[in-house]
Amino acid sequence: MEPALELDGVTKVFRTWDGKEFNAVDGVTLRVPRGQLFGFLGPNGAGKTTLLRLIHAFWPPTRGRLRVLGYDPATQGGELKARIGVAPQDNNLDPDFNVRRNLTTYARYFRLPRAEAARRADELLDFVGLKDKRREEIDTLSGGMKRRLVLARSLINEPDLILLDEPTTGLDPQARHLVWDKIRELRRRGTTILLTTHYMEEAELLCDDLVIMDGGKIHVQGRPADLIAKHVGRDVLELAFHPGSTPSVEDLRRLPGAADARIEIHADRAFVYHDDVESIAHQAKARFRLESSLVRRAGLEDVFLRLTGRQLRE
Ligand SMILES: Nc1ncnc2c1ncn2[C@@H]1O[C@H](COP(=O)(O)OP(=O)(O)OP(=O)(O)O)[C@@H](O)[C@H]1O
Ligand SMILES: [Mg+2]
Repeated sequence: MEPALELDGVTKVFRTWDGKEFNAVDGVTLRVPRGQLFGFLGPNGAGKTTLLRLIHAFWPPTRGRLRVLGYDPATQGGELKARIGVAPQDNNLDPDFNVRRNLTTYARYFRLPRAEAARRADELLDFVGLKDKRREEIDTLSGGMKRRLVLARSLINEPDLILLDEPTTGLDPQARHLVWDKIRELRRRGTTILLTTHYMEEAELLCDDLVIMDGGKIHVQGRPADLIAKHVGRDVLELAFHPGSTPSVEDLRRLPGAADARIEIHADRAFVYHDDVESIAHQAKARFRLESSLVRRAGLEDVFLRLTGRQLRE
């Protein structure tokens, strides 16, 4: 069987208000096998949503080749759309219809018989915990309920591939765990899932494989655990200093065991990345006036910040 996704040099050019061209997606080459839960991470404006839109044939690429579930989105958009489900970043629900009608109306695009559409709508409302809300108007739903309804809607055609653009943004912890369970359940059934998220914990927990994008380009690809091991190491030591007493990177590097550690200072905090930071923590406590010190396992957020920096995007 062909892979779920094959992208080769995919580029999307946009124009800014003053007519300058820029690559929102810039030469992306990527292969995702079927059945994977694959993540797209990256700062605001990295190009994640644009890339997903190219994948579900919302826009054609400016350059490059795509194959999605074996289809060419440029010429087989119709066939492709029948096999994929999309939960867009914005909750584009229809305010003129109630909760259940949003699903049954959407089912019509796939020419589902009325009875089958009704059956699936009820099943999906149950799946995302919105059964009791089925007769409510969209405007009366909370943000998290809308998010879950968008997820349900993306599943109405029983897709082989689903694109989830920030599915858990704005959800409370209960709803987030519910959505994680649902995503894992879909994956167990063999559905390929493309997911974007700004929650590194979520990506670490769910994704088989992921890319970190910035400026339209893929910076790294790998399994969460491999990326952490490769780019950060095992442990992180976070030191907070009393105001005005933050040492320099060189001072910290002189601590026994810290010579080959990666050290960063941000405001009154220092971050020491190393495979064994316990002894460095001990030395730091003896040598400096610390407000606090914390030893923790390195995570995907450390990888993300290392590769994309701490500067805010415009
Ligand atoms: N329709 C459009 N016309 C022009 N520029 C666009 C359009 N859509 C997105 N962009 C620009 O393309 C770039 C990538 O945007 P995109 O929405 O893909 O980012 P993203 O990675 O999804 O960010 P976020 O995490 O904030 O959702 C941004 O600079 C954005 O301003
Ligand atoms: Mg986006």
